[in-house]
Amino acid sequence: MTYNVLLHPSHHTFLVNGADSLLEAGLRAGLAMNYGCSSGNCGLCKARVVSGQVEKIRHQDYVVSEAEKNQGYVLLCSHTAASDLVIEATEATGVNEIQLQEIDARVKEVKLLTDKVMLLHLQTPRTNRLRFMAGQSVALSIGDDASDYAIASCPCDDRNLQFNVRNIPGNPFAARVFNSVRSGDTINVYGPVGEFVLKPESTRPLLLLACNSGFAPIKSLIEHAMSLERAESLHLYWLATVQGGHYLSNWCRAWGDALDNFYYHELNADSLQEPNLDRVLARVTADHPNLSQFDVYVAGPSSFVNKMHTALLQNGVPAAQLVSAVI
Ligand code: FES
Repeated sequence: MTYNVLLHPSHHTFLVNGADSLLEAGLRAGLAMNYGCSSGNCGLCKARVVSGQVEKIRHQDYVVSEAEKNQGYVLLCSHTAASDLVIEATEATGVNEIQLQEIDARVKEVKLLTDKVMLLHLQTPRTNRLRFMAGQSVALSIGDDASDYAIASCPCDDRNLQFNVRNIPGNPFAARVFNSVRSGDTINVYGPVGEFVLKPESTRPLLLLACNSGFAPIKSLIEHAMSLERAESLHLYWLATVQGGHYLSNWCRAWGDALDNFYYHELNADSLQEPNLDRVLARVTADHPNLSQFDVYVAGPSSFVNKMHTALLQNGVPAAQLVSAVI
């Protein structure tokens, strides 16, 4: 059976079936639910059932007091819906509400996307997942070798963290990922940090401008926006200035094929020189003469981000609707 859940005070809704906990279903729907351990230990997912029936599906060590039970409090990670529900639950509305976490994650896969970019897929323990917002970054480390990376996956799948690691000379962490890291190894994850996140509650169309590995946080934003199903449309422009720069172009084309409201534009240039960036801007403004309607996200090298940020403001994007990240 599938049931509808309405959250107060946000009025967000999501569907849940008996195989999923209320927490899992809410996260999969892209909601920034409050939680910690996902396994009945911390009590952070405690919420009040205002109406409807829930069913306990997992063991919990955290004790909900009798008084709380009488008021309808349950743990969202250990209960599912047994009817349509109205629940009073806390959701994060900003990055400040998400604490720094440190997790030892297991390498699930390392896979070459091009000879210069590796997909690093980490899986956190079932009882210690990374709570983050799409677009944020973490520090990854193996022993003394550490480096910061944008998370290239969606918080709606919080156990599975993906990263696009570029083999940059002089980066010992990247060298280890390319040369010695194997499935089953342990990598330390510390974070999340960063404010490159979706505007809460916005239903405006999204304009996403990525350059080279700036695609990583943009991919996270796109996947989160898709799970939320709020944005009217998504328009991705991905500029590559290095060989193999469009290292996940197949994904982008697949999104474009599968979704009526996703539009992918692949751009190439031989450098980040001003005339090349002017051409990118000219293409975007020709396609979208009214840029003020969009929430705009820009990620990539500093010269790309600085140029685009300034030019987009000059071309009518309100400052409150423009977010940038140097990657
Ligand atoms: S998330 Fe920790 S008890 Fe539910």
